[in-house]
Amino acid sequence: MQYIAVREPGAADVLHMAEGNLPVPADDEVLIRVSAAGVNRPDVLQRLGHYPPPPDASPLLGLEVAGEVVATGKQVSRWQRGDLVCALVNGGGYAEYAVAPATQCLQVPAGLSLVEAAALPETAFTVWHNLWQRAALRPGETLLVHGGSSGIGTLAIQLAAAMGVTVYATAGSEEKCRVCESLGATKAINYREEDFVAVIKQLTDGRGVDVILDMVGGDYVQRNFAAAARDARLVSIAFLEGSRVNIDLMPLMIKRLTLTGSTLRGQSPLIKVQIARELEQQVWPLITQGKVKPLISAEYPFAEAAEAHRLMESGNLIGKVVLVPNH
Ligand SMILES: NC(=O)c1ccc[n+]([C@@H]2O[C@H](COP(=O)([O-])OP(=O)(O)OC[C@H]3O[C@@H](n4cnc5c(N)ncnc54)[C@H](OP(=O)(O)O)[C@@H]3O)[C@@H](O)[C@H]2O)c1
Repeated sequence: MQYIAVREPGAADVLHMAEGNLPVPADDEVLIRVSAAGVNRPDVLQRLGHYPPPPDASPLLGLEVAGEVVATGKQVSRWQRGDLVCALVNGGGYAEYAVAPATQCLQVPAGLSLVEAAALPETAFTVWHNLWQRAALRPGETLLVHGGSSGIGTLAIQLAAAMGVTVYATAGSEEKCRVCESLGATKAINYREEDFVAVIKQLTDGRGVDVILDMVGGDYVQRNFAAAARDARLVSIAFLEGSRVNIDLMPLMIKRLTLTGSTLRGQSPLIKVQIARELEQQVWPLITQGKVKPLISAEYPFAEAAEAHRLMESGNLIGKVVLVPNH
């Protein structure tokens, strides 16, 4: 099969096409003929050599795919050859064929193309786990999504709005803010023009928001404390502006805040199964009803994977980037 290889850690042009053997599914895995593979920020970090894959994972790039099941391991009863699935894979998504644990596969939701379905698993698993399982977001609450125009942000906004949450977002341009609002954010704040703390205070009559999804870190940690309501939950999923911060923790105590976070890749298979089950029950129906849909910014053939990574690194995108093999 053909796959996208990394010649050596470095800039996007280290990505090139290579040929290798088909992966063999273990007893609890399926083999998927990949129709599309999602691109995620961790792929860029792995390409740069900053995010080595876990020892038991495929060394190839790629954390999510959609395609057809072409073989199943001995213990797999749920999926059969010919089923169309999208899957959270333990690496190896940037290839014509990829293996996935059967429990991390989900049916392609009715109404979605395989390209759209490939853009779902990494963001859906991350958003569901952090906002619902970890931060216990409830209908009627208020949520602030930083990086509202990212793949994660665009899904978080839609999902929360569809579940009766009032959503605010931050983004770095007027265009990105308008997209966040078209997806269901009551108000998107251009963080380059306005102080999100002041705007959130104003929008919530001084109360603050119940939950904050943060990928920025740096001085946002202290500012999130200021924008948080009493008993708010703050979830960190990345630290683009740095994880070492000097903060005053007093608001944590006074407002009874919860500060938490997680990385999806490090979660146990058991947790991933639980997330997959809840996605199937709570999120997939919203997708089939057309209330939630992954936003695709660009689609590239495998041979242009370097372009896809350059786009992600440029920040000139809204939503997700997807790679499509030649077969
Ligand atoms: N913990 C986990 O399990 C997990 C899983 C998946 C992804 N992630 C993380 O989630 C983040 C989003 O990933 P993605 O692949 O969806 O998209 P991405 O392209 O990595 O999105 C990054 C976002 O961060 C925003 N941003 C960057 N610097 C900023 C700053 N200084 N202030 C405010 N916003 C800033 C950008 O917004 P503007 O363009 O508007 O500036 C952009 O929307 C990434 O950092 C990724 O590593 C974490």
